[in-house]
Amino acid sequence: MTTTPITPTGLLPTLPGPAYTDPATFLREQERIFEARWFCAVRAGDLLTPGSFRTVTVGRENVLITRGRDGALRAFLNVCRHRGARLCTEEAGQVRRTFRCPYHAWTYAPDGRLVAAPNLKDLPGLDRSAHGLIGVALREWLGYAWVCLADEPPSFEETVIGSVSARLGDDRAVERYRPADLVLGRRVTYDVRANWKLIVENFMECYHCATIHPELVQVLPEFAQGWAAQAAVGHGAAFAQDVEGFTVDGSGGFGRLPGLADEQDRRYFATTIRPQVFVNLVPDHVILHRMFPLAPDRTRVECDWLYAADVIDGGADVSASVELFHRVNEQDFAACERTQPAMHSRAYAAGGVLVPTEHHITEFHHWVTSLLA
Ligand code: FES
Ligand code: FE
Repeated sequence: MTTTPITPTGLLPTLPGPAYTDPATFLREQERIFEARWFCAVRAGDLLTPGSFRTVTVGRENVLITRGRDGALRAFLNVCRHRGARLCTEEAGQVRRTFRCPYHAWTYAPDGRLVAAPNLKDLPGLDRSAHGLIGVALREWLGYAWVCLADEPPSFEETVIGSVSARLGDDRAVERYRPADLVLGRRVTYDVRANWKLIVENFMECYHCATIHPELVQVLPEFAQGWAAQAAVGHGAAFAQDVEGFTVDGSGGFGRLPGLADEQDRRYFATTIRPQVFVNLVPDHVILHRMFPLAPDRTRVECDWLYAADVIDGGADVSASVELFHRVNEQDFAACERTQPAMHSRAYAAGGVLVPTEHHITEFHHWVTSLLA
């Protein structure tokens, strides 16, 4: 790389260790971040048929997302209005017509209406319209359903689209890859024993790339210098000259996605979308991570590899491109898991330091602490 995006000024502090372990801090993050802001929940393409559903953890709530007979996606708190049983106990599935509570069989339509209950005739006073499922705000963007538990959701444009790193060039840079039109080629779910902020910080920096990502550095040699692609304004990272595609062995990938300009060819771009999404953009596919923070020291990560429909429909073997970032994920998450136990240590009570290639992480720390203040 020719430009240095941040003037080296020495060392900056990290957050103190307890920020990654303290249950009270995690509770505040659940309340003020995951339950208060838009949260990327599910891939819309996973729910193609009426009655298909997924359930996901958002903050302290479990949210049911389903497609109605009218084709619309809707989200609800996954709680039966009778005595509070979890309505849908599976992570994913398909109902024929209705959701039936496993406890006393109150039954709800995919649009949330309470449509039946046993011995309803004994309950003449039950106002069914007042006992439907509690709805949750939902927006679709980039092919994903984003939900917001707040009574008055903040502006999606400002808080989600506006959080796409300006360093990609512009807010709409991710849309140029048209992830909504792409098809899921592979999904891997990782159960990471680390705080969600350690995972964000790790994704934001590439100081570790030379140490733990030998395959990635082969494809993106400038990463060996430690400057992350998202710290470089609109620049991305160039593929190595002898590499044909973003694959584990440098073999050729697939055709360039429609709509991409020459500037995006043979380059890798990355961004975070707050609070819990990472996007990796390469010419022939998009990799999108959604994090589900479950506990101070535990985060579920779903990683989707998305390709052009004709690649997947044609039965192409995507394993060489999946394997590259799957290895990166395993290397990154192992590093985060190695860090997590030490967050309890007296050695880290006041935190650690950020070197210049990591200074942009401070912006993330400021964002979190300002929301928790
Ligand atoms: Fe669901 Fe009773 S708790 S029907
Ligand atoms: Fe990494």
